Amino acid sequence: MINLSQRAEILKPSATLSLNKKAKEMKAKGFDVINLTVGEPDFDTPEEIKEFAIKAMKDGYTKYTEEKGMKNLREIICEKLEKDNGLKYDPEEIVISNGAKHSLFNIFLSILNPEDEVIIPVPYWVSYPAMVLICGGVPVFCKYNEKFKIDIEDLKTKITPKTKALILNSPSNPTGIVYEKKELEEIAEIILSNKIFCISDEVYEKIIFDKQHISIASLSKELKNLTIIVNGVSKTFAMTGWRIGFTASRKDIADAIGKIQGQTTSAPSSISQMASYYAIKEGERLFKNMVEEFKKRRNFLVENLSNEIKYPYPEGAFYMFLNFKNMDSKILSQRLLEEKLIATVPGEEFGVDNYIRISYALDIESLKKAVERVNEFVKENL
Ligand SMILES: Cc1ncc(COP(=O)(O)O)c(C=O)c1O
Repeated sequence: MINLSQRAEILKPSATLSLNKKAKEMKAKGFDVINLTVGEPDFDTPEEIKEFAIKAMKDGYTKYTEEKGMKNLREIICEKLEKDNGLKYDPEEIVISNGAKHSLFNIFLSILNPEDEVIIPVPYWVSYPAMVLICGGVPVFCKYNEKFKIDIEDLKTKITPKTKALILNSPSNPTGIVYEKKELEEIAEIILSNKIFCISDEVYEKIIFDKQHISIASLSKELKNLTIIVNGVSKTFAMTGWRIGFTASRKDIADAIGKIQGQTTSAPSSISQMASYYAIKEGERLFKNMVEEFKKRRNFLVENLSNEIKYPYPEGAFYMFLNFKNMDSKILSQRLLEEKLIATVPGEEFGVDNYIRISYALDIESLKKAVERVNEFVKENL
């Protein structure tokens, strides 16, 4: 038997996948399963973006582009960063990749040497630890405080001479929490005094309800130098299938990412890049209604879910992280699926055993039914 790579062996099949499979099987058998595991907007990409992509194809934008991505897209991203985040970047400091996920992977390939440590605050988006491991790094987990944000005291104890970077994700998947300026300043102090990178995953930047998003890179020039911003069009413009993400960083990091990308995937699809150019150029007008709808749904859930269920208050993204009197998340997810036909993601996927993640990227009628069933479960069991 010829061995496969240790890299491939590292990745274990997830509980979510088997639960998802089960949910799909039940649905196929005719059960009325409500799927609260969705990780993408349930809205279609705005028609104008599609039309622009069709025109781009017809106009001949069908060839390889520069390895960092098309200049017009990188320029419009610079404009966006300046207008929305108060950050001045040069187009040479921007790299376009196949989705924010690919941007993150490129970052780890560009900054990590074997055994370098990356601090990942719990609860985390499932792919962070896997990516760090594939790239030869070591994920180091940092605890959360009562607001489900980085526990600063714990963070201090997790820094070692091998620490290379800290990941920050605001608004957060899976909790929907959003960092305040004061909280970012505390984290910034630790980044600066230890000279580590901050990988700031801002893909949910625009899906935010009660506050303005603040990019940690905007706190100071020194911090901007150490921050690698990750963002994209997937969530903001309901363009998950177009696969466009980007990084904004110091030029030496952008050059490294560009070099790696140039020898692996090349730049992403020229057509998707043109569509993203249009989306970012037009901006808020194209996502305003979707965000308002997410806010209505968030409000509906907060107002109607049983008081027995506890959660960090969701201020962004389209997720809630729920605790049912500390019930084990795998058992809870399984029982909700089997007994109430509700599919959820067990919190162990995000590094927390007694919470489950639900998504509200589905229509309000389904959410109403879901809430009824979940509240019924609570009445019967808690
Ligand atoms: C926190 C976070 N970062 C990055 C991504 C990846 O986004 P993309 O679809 O652009 O690769 C996701 C998608 O679920 C996410 O939740």
